Amino acid sequence: MNDGDGTLAAGAQARQFGPLGTTLVIIPTYNEAENIKKIVRRVRSAVPEAHVLVADDNSPDGTGKLADELAAEDEHVQVLHRKGKEGLGAAYLAGFRWGMEHGYGVLVEMDADGSHQPEELPRLLTALKGADLVLGSRWVPGGRVVNWPKSREFISRGGSLYSRVLLDVPIRDVTGGYRAFRRETLEGLGLGEVASQGYCFQVDLARRAVKAGFHVVEVPITFVERELGDSKMSRDILVEALWRVTTWGVGERVARITGRKPS
Ligand code: GDD
Ligand code: MN
Repeated sequence: MNDGDGTLAAGAQARQFGPLGTTLVIIPTYNEAENIKKIVRRVRSAVPEAHVLVADDNSPDGTGKLADELAAEDEHVQVLHRKGKEGLGAAYLAGFRWGMEHGYGVLVEMDADGSHQPEELPRLLTALKGADLVLGSRWVPGGRVVNWPKSREFISRGGSLYSRVLLDVPIRDVTGGYRAFRRETLEGLGLGEVASQGYCFQVDLARRAVKAGFHVVEVPITFVERELGDSKMSRDILVEALWRVTTWGVGERVARITGRKPS
């Protein structure tokens, strides 16, 4: 675990991490027509050896078609067309499955709207050489957010704090969505049992990684609020997150008292 300034906790130094395989950057999209071409081009120039998978939920604004155009002109770009809007979690699960079936060694999560800067990806990948999972983090020293309303920062910081305390995971930015996984890490998370649909998917995966004993490192990032298009954050997504995190936290405590395995 990272203690905030990049040093590794005792025990971690002794571990040997295998080489990193080919990187697949998964970009989930719902109505990102104004953003998709720009973000894919930025990824391609920031990390030319990486491949990109756009996981589109049949966006009414034609994002999927624009992604197809990118794929037609660049063999490093693929598109996963999904039937309809099923949430960020479901799109990532499908993207991970696709990536693992196709033999990728590193799977990266990245938003389409420019909030996660592709130019910072090399730093995440460098950190992954000595970790099982790297989290791009807004809430460690050196991390920050640009152009976020105070209300949104309050929700995000509050959500991270609530999750950290209730779930007992020593991570500052538990809800963030800029991450790099080794495939072996994903294979060890029990993805078949993940039911989270919205943004709590991120909390779900982080807690699973910590509980499974993986070495998780937070790397500071600058999160830049989108300039074009709309956030998909909604009341339903917040309610799902609050409900699930609370259920996990209470379940773990009950399990500790009764000696039974938490669900
Ligand atoms: N395929 C698919 N299906 N993509 C989706 C869906 C969906 O149902 N919902 C959202 N997305 C995509 C968006 O198109 C975007 O590329 C990305 O997921 C993030 O969505 P935003 O709507 O831009 O999220 P945000 O800026 O409000 O939230 C950010 O902060 C959250 C809390 O920290 C993101 O970084 C989230 O990942 C993060 O959990
Ligand atoms: Mn966003």
